[in-house]
Amino acid sequence: MAGKRTFTMIKPDAVENGHIGAILEKITASGFKIVALKLTQLSKRDAEEFYAVHNERPFFGELVEFMTRGPIVAAILEKENAVSDFRTLIGATNPSEAAEGTIRNLYATSIGENAVHGSDSDENGTIEGAFHFSGREIF
Ligand code: PPS
Repeated sequence: MAGKRTFTMIKPDAVENGHIGAILEKITASGFKIVALKLTQLSKRDAEEFYAVHNERPFFGELVEFMTRGPIVAAILEKENAVSDFRTLIGATNPSEAAEGTIRNLYATSIGENAVHGSDSDENGTIEGAFHFSGREIF
């Protein structure tokens, strides 16, 4: 996926609050092509593995509990400079610091419940996409 793809999840808070359609619309209107997409739910084991890099952080238990409490939308997105452009589109981790018009500014409620995930590097985008999708689910 080098340079051109990133991985995202619409998190349980945004799914619960009915924002799937608005968020996908904003993503595609910003020039990202959806090349894989599913509604799914993480098990505790899935979330612990997906977020393993953060397992020493004080909020780890809370993060796993939140990410497993309901369905999420997982997607792989394609665009030039996908990782950095998508992180710009979603805004800062803490929605109170997220720039106006970003997805977290519009739809997130707190630093823990912040509506969307975006990969932080090309390498992690590839790993995270492969965590959720098999080869024949990626177009
Ligand atoms: S990042 O993107 O890795 O630089 O962000 P970071 O601040 O390191 O946060 C890593 C993920 O942990 C989530 N997070 C939290 N969850 C619960 N409570 C608190 N206080 C908290 N702070 C950060 C944050 O949303 C990141 O999740 P993802 O899925 O990567 O967005």
